Amino acid sequence: MSDVGFGIIGCGAIAPIHAESISKIKGARLVAVADVVERNAQSLADKYAAAAYTDYREMLARKDVHAVGLCVPSGMRAEIGEVCAAAGKHILAEKPLEVTTERIDRLIAAAGKAGVKLSCVYQSRFSDGALSIRKALDEGRFGKLVLGDAYIKWFRTQEYYNSGSWRGTRKLDGGGCLMNQGIHQIDLLLWFFGDVEQVYAQTRLVAHEHLEVEDLACAMLKFKSGALGVIEGSTAIWPGHSARIEVHGAEGGAVLEDGKLRFWRFKQETAEDKEIQEHLNDESILGSGAGDPLSNLRSDGHRLQITDFVEAIRLNRPPAIDGREGRRAVELIEAIYRSAASGAPVVFA
Ligand SMILES: NC(=O)c1ccc[n+]([C@@H]2O[C@H](COP(=O)([O-])OP(=O)(O)OC[C@H]3O[C@@H](n4cnc5c(N)ncnc54)[C@H](O)[C@@H]3O)[C@@H](O)[C@H]2O)c1
Repeated sequence: MSDVGFGIIGCGAIAPIHAESISKIKGARLVAVADVVERNAQSLADKYAAAAYTDYREMLARKDVHAVGLCVPSGMRAEIGEVCAAAGKHILAEKPLEVTTERIDRLIAAAGKAGVKLSCVYQSRFSDGALSIRKALDEGRFGKLVLGDAYIKWFRTQEYYNSGSWRGTRKLDGGGCLMNQGIHQIDLLLWFFGDVEQVYAQTRLVAHEHLEVEDLACAMLKFKSGALGVIEGSTAIWPGHSARIEVHGAEGGAVLEDGKLRFWRFKQETAEDKEIQEHLNDESILGSGAGDPLSNLRSDGHRLQITDFVEAIRLNRPPAIDGREGRRAVELIEAIYRSAASGAPVVFA
C-alpha cells in the first residue's frame, strides 16, 4: 500500500496537532482538510500543502483520502462519521468519541458495517508513564488493587467557553469538566482499574456563566474488582493543577502527573524501578492543559496514536483504542451525570 492519505474534518484548535503528527509519520500523508469556515480550512491546508474544502463530502470523494481525522465539535461526529464510513474511509475521532453512548453506538455500527477502522483519540495512554503503569499492572506488581483516583483540577476562562458556540452545551460538548477535559484521566483510570460497578456523584456549575454543563464534579467509585476510587474534576480551579492519577495496590503504588511518573514504589523492587525513581522529579512534563487548553499540548501523544492507527490500517488489525474502548469513559461519565441528577448511586449491570 502506498502512503495512508489523511483528510481532516474540522480545522479548529486541535486540527493542527493532527496535521503536525501526520507530517511526522512515515507512510502517512495529509492530503486534504475541510471546514465550513473557509479561512480555517485554507490556513491549515496552506501550511501542509494540502487541498482545502468547505464541504467535507467533496473531500471524501477523493480516492487518495483513505482515513479521516474527525476534529469537529464532539456532538457532530455521529452523522459526519456515518458519511465517512459509508464512503469507505477509516475514522480517527477526537475525544469524546461522541457525546452519548447512544450516538457512539451509531458510529461503531457504521464503521462495522462499512468494514473501516474506528479509533478514538486518547493520547494520554501513549505516555511513557501510563505505559509503565499498564505494564506493571499486567505483571501483577501492584498486588490487589485498593484505590484508584483521578484528579483534574483545571481552569478555563469564561472567554474559553465563549470562544465557540458549541462549548459548554449539552448537545455538542455533551458535558463540562468531565466530558470535555477530564475524559483522558477517566479513560486512564478505567484502563488501569477495569470496569466500575457503582458510582455516586455530585456536580455543580460554580464559576462560569451561561453553561448548560458542570464546571465541578466529584464522584465516588466502586470498581468491579472491589477497589474504590474517586474522580474530582473541575475547570473552575485557578490557576489549574497537573492532571493526576493515583494507582494504589497492596504491594505497590504509582502516581502519574500529566503523563510523568511522580511516585513509583513496589514491595518487590527491580533494577528498572531504580531507573524510573531517579527521574521522578524531572521538571519536564508531557504538557498540561491545566490553565490553558492548547498552549502546552504537544503532538507526541497524537503522533504515537496515529502511528498505531496507520499500522492498524496497513496490517488490517484493530487499532490500540477502538470504538468500544472509546465508549467506556463516556459510559461512566453518563452514569456520573445520572447520579448527580437523581442524587442516588448508579449501579452498572
Ligand atoms: N485530544 C485532545 O486532547 C483534544 C484537545 C482539544 C480538543 N479536542 C477535541 O477536538 C474536537 C474539536 O475541538 P476544538 O477545540 O478543535 O474545537 P474548535 O471549535 O476550535 O474547532 C472545530 C472546528 O470544526 C469546524 N466545523 C464545525 N462544523 C463542521 C462541519 N460540519 N464540517 C466541517 N467543519 C466543521 C468549525 O468551523 C471549527 O473550525 C472536540 O471534540 C474536542 O473535544 C481534543
